[in-house]
Amino acid sequence: MNEETSQQIVKQMYKTLIESLTLDTRLNIEAVPSYAIEILSKISPRSRKTYDGSAIFIPDAIEGARVLDIGCGGGSLSFVLSKLVGPAGYVVGVDFSEDFIQLCQEETAYHMKEWGYSKPNCEFICSDVEKLLDFQLEPFDVIVSNGLMCLVHNKGKVIQIISRLLKEGGEFYNSDIFSDTKQCEEVKATPLFCCYGLSGAMVWSDLKELTGPYGFSDPYLLYAADTFQFGTEKNKLDLRGVSYVCAVYRLIKLVPESTGQGAIVSYNGNYEKSQDFLKWDVDTIFKKDVPIKIDGYFASLLAKTKFARFFTFEKYEGQLISKRNQNPFSYLKELRESGSAYPKPIFPMDEEHNKYYEDAIKSVI
Ligand SMILES: C[S@@+](CC[C@H](N)C(=O)[O-])C[C@H]1O[C@@H](n2cnc3c(N)ncnc32)[C@H](O)[C@@H]1O
Repeated sequence: MNEETSQQIVKQMYKTLIESLTLDTRLNIEAVPSYAIEILSKISPRSRKTYDGSAIFIPDAIEGARVLDIGCGGGSLSFVLSKLVGPAGYVVGVDFSEDFIQLCQEETAYHMKEWGYSKPNCEFICSDVEKLLDFQLEPFDVIVSNGLMCLVHNKGKVIQIISRLLKEGGEFYNSDIFSDTKQCEEVKATPLFCCYGLSGAMVWSDLKELTGPYGFSDPYLLYAADTFQFGTEKNKLDLRGVSYVCAVYRLIKLVPESTGQGAIVSYNGNYEKSQDFLKWDVDTIFKKDVPIKIDGYFASLLAKTKFARFFTFEKYEGQLISKRNQNPFSYLKELRESGSAYPKPIFPMDEEHNKYYEDAIKSVI
């Protein structure tokens, strides 16, 4: 299926689906800090009814930051970010669906009133993400993408654009559907798979190959969980043995200088929203005043990010390699084996919601 056809299908599907999805049943609440849950509960009824993200992830320490939300949909995440960056920060949401952008623009006043801002600190642009450079936007501190990449054809071009729009040392949070192996071409070409984001789901290990050449660090896995069921109970998709997962990765736009000297790093507890611990990825959760040895690559990266101000670094003379579990499938397996896997898929989409999908998909194919 060519790019134009799949884009038309996706646009048409969202036209039908708009306002029949919901944040309420699809929120991966265990990955959201408590302060953000309160903010999420204040998202307007119209925006929350359009939520179709892969898994929400809330970036830390973004007060005053410029944040770009690509594939922003009805703005559930963009408006949470507009609260978190505060009146001095700025959020830009981008989507190629005119209906979604109109909805975000109409809902802006509601959220600005809710957050107590006298003027909007966010704007919404209707554009294909591949044409974003035409808008000559100022560079961003943080870029988030929740469920976009699996719908994008030319992923390399989009990553290059993200890299161009990010400040040096900035963060890219990519929440998406990933597969364990390649899906066969015949299955990929079916519109149904395109609508569910399965045709374009990246094999998880390809992310590093894709982003490295554009100046990104290794991807750090922040979260992984089962996807929802594809299809209603009586109409399940035949996935031909390929598995899918929802995963969130953090990538930093910089390449660490050294892989040599490690460090002993302590979290000082001075990030006011999370004083007891700071999570870097699924393998490294820094607890306040508990020193952790990290390898040279990680130490050099961390020292150059905005997070450095929360840590004390000491030299470590020995050799070591920090664990970097980037495979969301093996992380999920570990969680299951230790009995701490999330009890339910993150998206306990009920039959009714799955039926909305099927009806929307039927209307476009
Ligand atoms: C899975 S939805 C996620 C929406 C939103 N992030 C959320 O959490 O509700 C993906 C979004 O990406 C948008 N999209 C898909 N391809 C796009 C493209 N090439 N350029 C801009 N937006 C795109 C769709 O219109 C849709 O709103």
